Amino acid sequence: DKANTFLSIKMRMPDDGPPSKKFKYTLQHKNNGNHVSDKLQQERRNLPIYPARGKIINQIQRLDTAILIGETGSGKTTQIPQYLLEANVNKNAIIAVTQPRRVAAITISQRVAEEQGTELGQKVGYCVRFEDVTSENTKIKYMTDGMLLREAILDPLMKRYSIVILDEAHERTIHTDVLFGVVKQAQSRRKAKGIRPLKILVMSATMDVDHFSAYFNAAPVLYLEGRQYPVQVFYAPEPQSDYTFSSIVTLFQIHRVEPPNKDVLMFLTGQEEIESAVKTIRDITRSTEENMAPLVVCPLYAALPSHAQLKVFKPTPRVCLYIYLKDKKLTDIEAITEGCRKVIVATNIAETSVTIQGIKFVIDSGVVKAKVFNPNSGLDLLKVVRVSKAQALQRTGRAGRESAGSCYRLYTEQEFEQFSDSTVPEIQRCNLSSVVLQLLALGISDIVNFDFMDKPSTESIIAAVHQLHNLGAVVKETSIKLTPVGRKMAAFPLEPRLGKTLLIAKEHNCLEEILTIVSLLSVDSVIVTPQSKREEALAARQKFVSSEGDHVMLLNIYKAYKAVKGNREWCMENFINQRNMRTATEVRKQLHDICVRMDFPVKSCGNDSTTIRKCLAYGFFMNAAELQKDGSEYTSLSSRKTVSIHPSSVLFRCKPAYVIYNELVKTTKCYMRDLCVVDPDWLSEAAPAYFKKKKPGT
Ligand code: CDP
Ligand code: MG
Repeated sequence: DKANTFLSIKMRMPDDGPPSKKFKYTLQHKNNGNHVSDKLQQERRNLPIYPARGKIINQIQRLDTAILIGETGSGKTTQIPQYLLEANVNKNAIIAVTQPRRVAAITISQRVAEEQGTELGQKVGYCVRFEDVTSENTKIKYMTDGMLLREAILDPLMKRYSIVILDEAHERTIHTDVLFGVVKQAQSRRKAKGIRPLKILVMSATMDVDHFSAYFNAAPVLYLEGRQYPVQVFYAPEPQSDYTFSSIVTLFQIHRVEPPNKDVLMFLTGQEEIESAVKTIRDITRSTEENMAPLVVCPLYAALPSHAQLKVFKPTPRVCLYIYLKDKKLTDIEAITEGCRKVIVATNIAETSVTIQGIKFVIDSGVVKAKVFNPNSGLDLLKVVRVSKAQALQRTGRAGRESAGSCYRLYTEQEFEQFSDSTVPEIQRCNLSSVVLQLLALGISDIVNFDFMDKPSTESIIAAVHQLHNLGAVVKETSIKLTPVGRKMAAFPLEPRLGKTLLIAKEHNCLEEILTIVSLLSVDSVIVTPQSKREEALAARQKFVSSEGDHVMLLNIYKAYKAVKGNREWCMENFINQRNMRTATEVRKQLHDICVRMDFPVKSCGNDSTTIRKCLAYGFFMNAAELQKDGSEYTSLSSRKTVSIHPSSVLFRCKPAYVIYNELVKTTKCYMRDLCVVDPDWLSEAAPAYFKKKKPGT
């Protein structure tokens, strides 16, 4: 039967051949303006949450703190803030709604602005790192949890808000967990001072309710009835060695045998993997001789530009026209098909934080990319790890929102039994140095006794304090205190090492250059290397390449980009992602503004790349590695572990004796990404005490 055969079909992966001459045109249904609005209002009334509207408003009016549980897609995130606004529960003040992910904050605020019939940034807006689309008229503000935390440094009582909604609480991101404590403290302090009360609403799709309720002083839990249709679960008959390959094979099996107009949601782990799967799927549909219904393929991951994200939410066109083109002229209409399938290839972002309509099939790779912290080395690693049972269930649930569906698990039932029950909160597995820096800036110095819902281990707090101490951000007296350097570092919305690098650059009069590098490291890669035009892209890049490493190359690219005023053709010819470049420019402007506010002179060191590298070495001495004696691999100086240069680095074939890197990524090996050549003396100069025991070169 189906359960035992779903992975048995062998499929050939196409080579990078020329696309066939078959083109597909999709006909979209047009809506006129008024209808959209009526239709939206109707959609709002059809949501599972709508009948509970009155009750929810009453309860929240009455309660200081409440917890609301409801299935993904029931309407919590989009509707609750609107209900509260419409009943003026917020008493004219702002309602903050936090999201763990920026994509969710942006797409949801767009949707809600539309439902309210206002322009985004007016009544409804969003605020994410480096982007604030709000105005004095904003009443509903979707924001990342990190942004609210940052605001709390300047305003610990959160006075501009009357309601804070902590959404997606079950995700337990590091920022949400810290916010729990900070918001709870703001609420009780406001009460003590007689300032307007702060309401807290914790929302989640699934969670350990008792745990949450207990933490929030036995807050009442409101349950929303969900609509969930049965989902048939299929397991792989045997363990799969390549989950991307298996996912694609499964997709085409579904596509062949199931009627069209039912969409597929596929869970993979990250941008590169998703883009390559999307390409393979498109290539197969283009080169196949079989008569298959058209497939619309949409990637979905956090770093995707917002216009591309919105494509995911557009209804799938159901009528497609196949035509033949010759010399760009229509020669023949081959077929008009009634039916088209959309496949969304997503990270775990599609698990709960965004809802996509029309999903009938889910393909679950069973893996997720997660940050894993090693307290011994003090390093965060991005690693592909198994999902928890709770996550697997969430993924499965996505198939049964509108009718009965199917979920294909690319792991065996025995493997599933080995999954952990629920995901370990991020705060218990990540590097805490950013959070500890923020808590200290918030005036919370007794971190070990902070009111965490789940305490991070004492070792990881100590490791974070050590890192900050190494960076000169804290001193240990009777308690741990921020130094003036640490206070300045906390003013930048950057990871402590990057913040420190900016401060060093100020001393070395090269902020102009380091601001550029830090901005480019804060956005998604500006370098494009399409599989099909690899050679061309590498040749075009040659003029920017530097033997001093990736940071210097990035700086060269930025200078050239500025010289042509961000010209589009130039970006295309040089394989530079113009959009990411613009974002980096925007980020740079904001960091520049902070420097100006803090009276930092933004000076240039001209072409003195040695000074630039020295600043990077001083900021990133904890991420240093030395070439091993046999010249094959590197040893990380902090953990003495073997690490390798990522193939995308300009230093891949150079193998300098000492490098610093921006991050470590673990796939088949432990790879260093974004490297810079450094002098070992700079490292010991940067932190003599740190290198006393593990001196470079010994
Ligand atoms: O938060 P929760 O998962 O309970 O639901 P929601 O995000 O408020 O979504 C409610 C409905 O709005 C879903 O049916 C979504 O499909 C729809 N929605 C949409 O069409 N476009 C968006 N950008 C966001 C939500
Ligand atoms: Mg939601």
